[in-house]
Amino acid sequence: MEDVAAIKAARKARRRFLVQFAVGCTSFVLCVLLYAPQFSMLTASYHTTTTRLDADDYSTAEEVLLVDDGGGGNALPPRLDLDNQVGSPCSSMPEHGICCDRSDANADVCFMTGDVRTDPTTSLSLLLFPPPTTTTADDVAEERIRPYTRKWDPAVTKRIHEVTLRAARPDEAAWSRRHCDVVHDAPAHVVTAGGYNAGNYFHAFNDGFLPAWITTQHLLLRRRGGVVLAVLAYDQRWADRHAEVLAGLSSSSASAHQIIDLVNDNRTHCFPGAIVGTRFHGYLAVDPARLRDNKTILDFHDFLAHVYTNKNPPASQQHRGRLDVPRQQQQNRRPRLGIVSRRGTRVIENEAAVARLAARVGFDVDVIEAGKEEAHRQLTLPALHAEVSGLDALVGAHGSDLTSLLFLRPGRAALVQVAPLGVTGLARGLFGVPAQRMGLRYEQYDARGHESSLSRVYAPDHVVVADPERAKRNKKGGGDGLDWEFIGRVYLTGQNVTLDLARFGETLARVHSWVLEQRQREESGSA
Ligand SMILES: *[C@@H]1O[C@H](CO)[C@@H](O)[C@H](O)[C@H]1NC(C)=O
Ligand SMILES: *[C@@H]1O[C@H](CO)[C@@H](O)[C@H](O)[C@H]1NC(C)=O
Ligand SMILES: *[C@@H]1O[C@H](CO)[C@@H](O)[C@H](O)[C@H]1NC(C)=O
Repeated sequence: MEDVAAIKAARKARRRFLVQFAVGCTSFVLCVLLYAPQFSMLTASYHTTTTRLDADDYSTAEEVLLVDDGGGGNALPPRLDLDNQVGSPCSSMPEHGICCDRSDANADVCFMTGDVRTDPTTSLSLLLFPPPTTTTADDVAEERIRPYTRKWDPAVTKRIHEVTLRAARPDEAAWSRRHCDVVHDAPAHVVTAGGYNAGNYFHAFNDGFLPAWITTQHLLLRRRGGVVLAVLAYDQRWADRHAEVLAGLSSSSASAHQIIDLVNDNRTHCFPGAIVGTRFHGYLAVDPARLRDNKTILDFHDFLAHVYTNKNPPASQQHRGRLDVPRQQQQNRRPRLGIVSRRGTRVIENEAAVARLAARVGFDVDVIEAGKEEAHRQLTLPALHAEVSGLDALVGAHGSDLTSLLFLRPGRAALVQVAPLGVTGLARGLFGVPAQRMGLRYEQYDARGHESSLSRVYAPDHVVVADPERAKRNKKGGGDGLDWEFIGRVYLTGQNVTLDLARFGETLARVHSWVLEQRQREESGSA
């Protein structure tokens, strides 16, 4: 009874669709389609391990990156494990070995301890020296890995460079007597700028920098030696745009390292170990239960504050470890609210009226020009960080620009996400849950039918406007039961919103009083 031709045509269309987006995934919209089917599974599994955080969990200044503390820490183990994950098979490696942990559904990660050298004839191989002395030595197996955070997504994973980790062969032994072109005093950390990372703000952090930090933060203190980033699919624009974070993730006792363009570098680099790939703890997530030092997303927030402001916390604030705005300056001004201004899709059509409304509610209002990575008018990351970290509230429609929530001040600032029709759950999972884990006040404003531009295309009682949850269900009956092609085309890329000013005014008023309450609480707490 099935119409075979129709099914074939649909499959073909879907394949074409996926390929097209896999190749040109430059906007969050397009990328969301590819990860969305995995989305509910990931967020669901995370809940069991989320822990409540309070100010005592904030990192101390001693732990802030690159603080040169004179190396007096006797609390440290004599030899630092490359792997910081609780319960990992690679956490107690011998001094000469290769170990991969492939137990996670999102990301594989491999570790090498010993004398590790890049193979200049094929820089995608990392060789472990010296070669085994017996031909039967199989304690050091060959491993291959495509280092990316979406194992479950074959379309993107197959485009990630494959790195080979192996013991040097006896016939390569002559090599070990040859000098290294570049000798590094810290292990290599091999990551990729490929996949969706180079062209998209959300993916750059969600799939790149945050996972890299989770994997190596325990090594980044100066006295712990740091790591040297070796980047696959190196992209100069990405490297320039994110120079500060990359410098923070690639530094050692000697100096901040040059980042290695691994695929194009024909020199022999020698390292005292290597890490290939990253851990992944969920969307914009750090799971303290999986880290031996219990680090949280607040520590990543502090890392970013450090790299963008190039400042360590002043001594008087070391018990908090926060980079704080001086209290006087903060108490005497109106709360400051930033509106992320999108172009193209999910535009707030009455943005100017929303800005005036926020001013009437009592905020000083900044409109932050968002836009794609390639936009010329966009702020540099340090400028964006300076802007957002000074806000009391950030308002924006669902989209990658909300990644800036990582810059907001935990416990002091609010995120207001406008969810257009049909993206309520995505909005909550991708930015709402991370905002709450960071200790931000979170408000989600779910647009109603009459606020959506779709109500100009469909009749008010049409299922697309009247019942998005039903409209999204997959008629073809596959996978997670949702029609992602349809969701992408109609709800993510085919929709703008005009906010109901009376209803949105209530949301803004709640946030405004919350900000004032937080200030009062702080004042009375410190009095
Ligand atoms: C690497 O390539 C450059 C030019 O691309 C060449 O000048 C240099 O000699 C090469 N180095 C090695 C170690 O092969
Ligand atoms: C991390 O948390 C566990 C469990 O709460 C605790 O036993 C351990 O001491 C903590 N470790 C550090 C380094 O704070
Ligand atoms: C949304 O607004 C933008 C900018 O005004 C416009 O280019 C786009 O066509 C609009 N989209 C829809 C579906 O109305």
